[in-house]
Amino acid sequence: MLIHSASQLITLAGAPQRGRELGRLGIIPNGAILIHAGMIVEIGTTLNLLNKYPDEERLDADGMAVLPGFVDAHTHLVWAGDRAAEFEMRLQGKSYMEIMAAGGGIASTVKATRSADHESLLHETRARARAMFASGTTTAEAKTGYGLELKTELSQMDVLLQLDHEGPLEVVPTFLGAHAIPTEFARREDAYTKLVCAEMLPALKEWWSRKAANKPLPFVDVFCEKGAFNLEQTRQVLTAAKALGYPLKAHVDEFENLGGASLACELGAASVDHVVKTSAAEIQLLGKSDTAVVSLPCTPFGLSDPHYTPAKDLLSADAILALATDLNPGTAWCESMQFAIALACRYLQLTPAQALAAATINSAYAIGRSATIGSLEAGKQADLLILSVEDYRHLAYRFGGNLVGKVIKKGSLYPQ
Ligand code: NIG
Ligand code: FE
Repeated sequence: MLIHSASQLITLAGAPQRGRELGRLGIIPNGAILIHAGMIVEIGTTLNLLNKYPDEERLDADGMAVLPGFVDAHTHLVWAGDRAAEFEMRLQGKSYMEIMAAGGGIASTVKATRSADHESLLHETRARARAMFASGTTTAEAKTGYGLELKTELSQMDVLLQLDHEGPLEVVPTFLGAHAIPTEFARREDAYTKLVCAEMLPALKEWWSRKAANKPLPFVDVFCEKGAFNLEQTRQVLTAAKALGYPLKAHVDEFENLGGASLACELGAASVDHVVKTSAAEIQLLGKSDTAVVSLPCTPFGLSDPHYTPAKDLLSADAILALATDLNPGTAWCESMQFAIALACRYLQLTPAQALAAATINSAYAIGRSATIGSLEAGKQADLLILSVEDYRHLAYRFGGNLVGKVIKKGSLYPQ
């Protein structure tokens, strides 16, 4: 298939974009792209490619902007139920952490997820996966973490593998057994941490070798935060995971700084996520490391919290900044990377070009996939979007709608 007549073919070609380099779009005006067997074969101008491949099946982009599919690098896609009542409590003055300490928050979603049968969990999760895809996310990282016991964690993982298999959204799974201390382990945080390290992580590895032996091991993530896992417990989980060969991620500095960013860098994590209350010294450290920083602006927005990731400081320090939605029932029920981009421009002061690079090539890097997705280059997977606007900046400028006209995933067109 030859897609032609793109007003702007935004390639984002090249390596992940560090620091002030962020925002290199590699635009080809009146661009075209040749796709075979789900892969990108050639990129060029419409004039050149139409001449060179006159017999190829054509798809007219009709003067609209074309860009790589969004990569959502941080979601909690799989859960049951909702927390609309807690949202209302927050509007009446209770904080997220107060609700969590009183047995609500993550624990209430854990209760709902544990009691959901597999079919309804799959059904509820699939609806969100479809909504994400329709708004332009072609690959999403997705975490477990609402089971906090082996059986439900594996059932969540099973849903993720099943949805990835069904497509079209490609799912990159993460094990987040260390998302919260389950109520049955209240005041026995160390015992739960030990359970995660000594039982869950090895059991997951064994399960993986039976269920998904052909896929790389999932990421292992920890919520390093006051009221969740402290720095020492985070170290135990990440060290145990690393020893078993899992790649690492960590939720750090969402509400308080516990030193999680330094720890994650030391252990060679693929990313640290949230990164709001991060110290000046740790910002410098992140700038020198290969660990990506995944900013989640939907979360402070969802909590009406004025503190966002200090993106400008991170870019000055030379960090690799990525964007994601954090889709979850507590703080950010948002399936749209377009909305995350719109927020990033307003609250992280990114330019539209910087936000786009953070949402594609850099977010692909944050989930270990920048060699195959995140940019439009020969040899990469054909995951791309045809917008319903001519100018990519509208993605950031407008908000609350959907400017994605067509989605192409592994060379297949949606809607067909
Ligand atoms: O990334 N911080 C931890 N996890 C989610 C919230 C999950 C929830 O409240 O259910 C987050 O914000
Ligand atoms: Fe999260």
